[in-house]
Amino acid sequence: MHLYGTAVINRLGHLEIGGVDTVTLAEKYGTPLYVYDVALIRNRARAFKKTFENMGVKAQVAYASKAFSTVAMIQLVEEEGLSLDVVSGGELFTAIRAEFPSERIHFHGNNKSESELKMALDYRVGCIVVDNFHELYLLAQLCEHRQQQVKILLRVTPGIEAHTHDYILTGQEDSKFGFDLQNGQAEEALTYAIENHYLDVLGLHCHIGSQIFETTGFKLAARKILEKLAEWNTSFRFKATVLNLGGGFGIRYTEEDSPLAPESYVTEMIDEVKAETDKLGLDLPEIWIEPGRSMVGDAGTTLYSVGSQKDVPNIRKYLAVDGGMTDNLRPALYDAKYEAILANRANEESKEKVSIAGKCCESGDMLIWDLPLPEASPNDILAVFCTGAYGYSMANNYNRIPRPPVVFVENGSSQLVVKRESYEDLLRLDLSYVAKSRM
Ligand code: LLP
Repeated sequence: MHLYGTAVINRLGHLEIGGVDTVTLAEKYGTPLYVYDVALIRNRARAFKKTFENMGVKAQVAYASKAFSTVAMIQLVEEEGLSLDVVSGGELFTAIRAEFPSERIHFHGNNKSESELKMALDYRVGCIVVDNFHELYLLAQLCEHRQQQVKILLRVTPGIEAHTHDYILTGQEDSKFGFDLQNGQAEEALTYAIENHYLDVLGLHCHIGSQIFETTGFKLAARKILEKLAEWNTSFRFKATVLNLGGGFGIRYTEEDSPLAPESYVTEMIDEVKAETDKLGLDLPEIWIEPGRSMVGDAGTTLYSVGSQKDVPNIRKYLAVDGGMTDNLRPALYDAKYEAILANRANEESKEKVSIAGKCCESGDMLIWDLPLPEASPNDILAVFCTGAYGYSMANNYNRIPRPPVVFVENGSSQLVVKRESYEDLLRLDLSYVAKSRM
């Protein structure tokens, strides 16, 4: 069994995280429940920052809040001194409510609306990552109208394919994101931006994919971008002060995954950028990164109560839990794999293989196939590991199932940071229909 962060099995044979017994958590807050190991998140944040410091490179580590965005999480990110990547008005609003310093916010998105751009300008975010010509012209227009300058990065697609699931590839040429580096679009965007008085181009951004296990893609992307920057240095006297290499560092979900230590990705990237800038005679830019999954993925564990079972003789045994694709869409959407244990019987030997089903009215609502477990009974607590990234943030209300609460655990105590959704919450936006004939 692989345990993450502060997780241990305590003397009662229960899974304990952050010094808190998860069985007690399930009793106190109910299930399903997302539990976050705060110490793990803090350690990750510090390790990323320290790697840059140790290598003497100016940097910003921007937490990609799409992985898990709530007021408490943003407050934690602020406490650790990171920057923040937001990708919508909603994520920006969360950051603002959490009183995150706006100059450390980077605003992303491939189709930011006019009102989202205005919101970003109102709050004077640190930089806007411009994705396409429509946005470039719109932003320039808005800035001119308001007589306001804004710092921008241009998002480019360097034509690199990262080795990961197709759905989450974003760096290859055939992508909805960014200006193409090869076909002249990035250059056209740059020339427009540097001639515009209101747009202050800090540099370039790329994000080549997600859940990546090796550094080749990152290094290749950095090299391609730096070569282009060297060209632009000559042709336009453009000097980039920032090179943002995005996020995408892989984490361990199951024993099949063997990621590098998060810091190793960074070390190798820095080495590459240093070597390449030296070779090309460029100044070393600030290097920015945007880890999402690797900041919070393995810090999150979901606790479920076991409910019904169905034995299909000689085929499989289904064990249903009180959540599913509503709180973790990743297995259904990406065929994502997870490991789990019985939190209240963590020392017991596995006796059988069971498949963990969710409670939604959908055959695809399966969380884990063929999981080795002791023989489980109703009300046992199933702990699914590594649900911290894109679990809560992609949660939904299919079948009108309320979303679970979120609890932070640290140093032996727990704190509720997102309440459980109630049935009332589900109906909060519903209005009654009044037939025309009765109006
Ligand atoms: N920066 C940009 C521009 C991104 O598009 C993303 C993720 C990140 C940073 C953070 O990537 P990370 O470090 O978390 O891999 N819902 C999918 C993941 C989609 C990722 C989208 N972009 C999943 O559940 O696997």
